[in-house]
Amino acid sequence: MTPVDPGPARAARPLRDEPWIRVRLAWRRFARRIADRMPKGLYARSLLIVILPMLILQSVVAYVFMERHWRLVTGRLSEALARDIAAIIEVIDTWPQDPDWRKIGGIAERDLGFSVTVLPGSTLPPPMPKPFFSLLDSALSDEIEVRVGRPFWIDTVGNSDLVEIRIVMKTGILRVIARRSQAYASNSHIFLVWMVITSLVLLTIAILFLRNQIRPIQQLADAADSFGKGRSIEEFTPRGAREVRRAGEAFTLMKRRIERQIEQRTAMLAGVSHDLRTVLTRFRLQTALMPPGPDREALETDVDEMQAMLEAYLAFARGEGNEEAVATDMAELLRAIGQDAERAGFEIRQVFDGDPIVVVRPNAIKRLIGNLVGNALRHADVVEVWARHADDWLTVYVDDDGPGVPESERENVFRPFYRLDEARNQDEGGTGLGLAIARDIARGHGGDIELDSSPLGGLRAIVRIPG
Ligand SMILES: Nc1ncnc2c1ncn2[C@@H]1O[C@H](COP(=O)(O)OP(=O)(O)OP(=O)(O)O)[C@@H](O)[C@H]1O
Ligand SMILES: [Mg+2]
Repeated sequence: MTPVDPGPARAARPLRDEPWIRVRLAWRRFARRIADRMPKGLYARSLLIVILPMLILQSVVAYVFMERHWRLVTGRLSEALARDIAAIIEVIDTWPQDPDWRKIGGIAERDLGFSVTVLPGSTLPPPMPKPFFSLLDSALSDEIEVRVGRPFWIDTVGNSDLVEIRIVMKTGILRVIARRSQAYASNSHIFLVWMVITSLVLLTIAILFLRNQIRPIQQLADAADSFGKGRSIEEFTPRGAREVRRAGEAFTLMKRRIERQIEQRTAMLAGVSHDLRTVLTRFRLQTALMPPGPDREALETDVDEMQAMLEAYLAFARGEGNEEAVATDMAELLRAIGQDAERAGFEIRQVFDGDPIVVVRPNAIKRLIGNLVGNALRHADVVEVWARHADDWLTVYVDDDGPGVPESERENVFRPFYRLDEARNQDEGGTGLGLAIARDIARGHGGDIELDSSPLGGLRAIVRIPG
């Protein structure tokens, strides 16, 4: 078998140039642009869902109605008027015995409902400007042309209630003045008025009902948001439609479960810490009774270390769960941390940008920033803290010029008791909980911490907290 010749290799077309991909991309761009312009809130969207179909329906109905009804009725009325006029002209032309056309004028006035006069001459005034949108003008003109078939002049604009028509006859010019309503379906706008009024009523009802349906969802969203940011929730009771109430109840149950868990943890820790402290105190007493020497010193160091670890661990596990979130002056808080460091003989450069008031748990945040600054001071000489409060986010950068943390370790160092210093052989007595606690606090506020390289050459810690 000979292999099939694939022909000259077609230049590979990039996938995005395939027509169907192009169509899909264009469609997606279009959909996104529409979505960008759509209102974002549930309330506005629901209203749109009610209003839009109503608007479309009414526009279609109104258009069809105008088109059909108006055209039909106006056409019929115009036709009738034109026929009457044609009959009058016929009579005048056929029996011109009536000297001043009084008889025929009377008949027209009494039986046909329009006034008729015959003017001498045979020239018509210059044509009136055509009204831009007038069914009447065109319908009447058409009918006169068909039924009468003579040169004519028509004025549907001038006098609002009357229509004037002039037609050239054999014996002069016939001037007809008729009421507009004789040729025109004039009260159809009532239909439109009713349509607008009923839509307004419908809209009002929709707004009232929707507001009541959507408020519970907004309240649930607010409550969940506050809980996620670790703030207290004022009075949340599930309300509204069944599904919304179910979501609200589920949220309340979940919140209670989480709170119970935290309480349990705190209670357990209090017990553990109490028991372990007792044992440690006993240790300490026993070592104090031992004869002095290297053994005793080693034991004492171990006990001290255990004590420190225990305290740190307890602090970590206890969290700052019971503290209330309050409006806090962050610039002031950062300054206080800076002053503490200064007192210890270090210097920190710091900048704050934006509104300093943020709703947070002040002690927890102080500890969070304190841990980061403490780490930086332990490893570096130059430390900079700069914070920004904008677009509902508080961002704090802690930069240093120390050795930094390699990229592969930047997640690991957040693990409790995970330390690099031991591997670096520069044990300074940390427990490896500082960053774990810091992240715990940041997440408890609905935010997070990330590590990066600092422009100063060392580590950069970035704290982001909604507020
Ligand atoms: N600014 C920094 N520069 C270099 N390494 C750092 C820095 N901050 C943290 N690290 C590394 O990350 C590890 C974990 O830090 P973490 O704060 O969790 O613990 P620690 O500082 O060792 O102990 P603790 O904070 O509990 O006293 C540290 O051991 C250290 O090696
Ligand atoms: Mg630390």
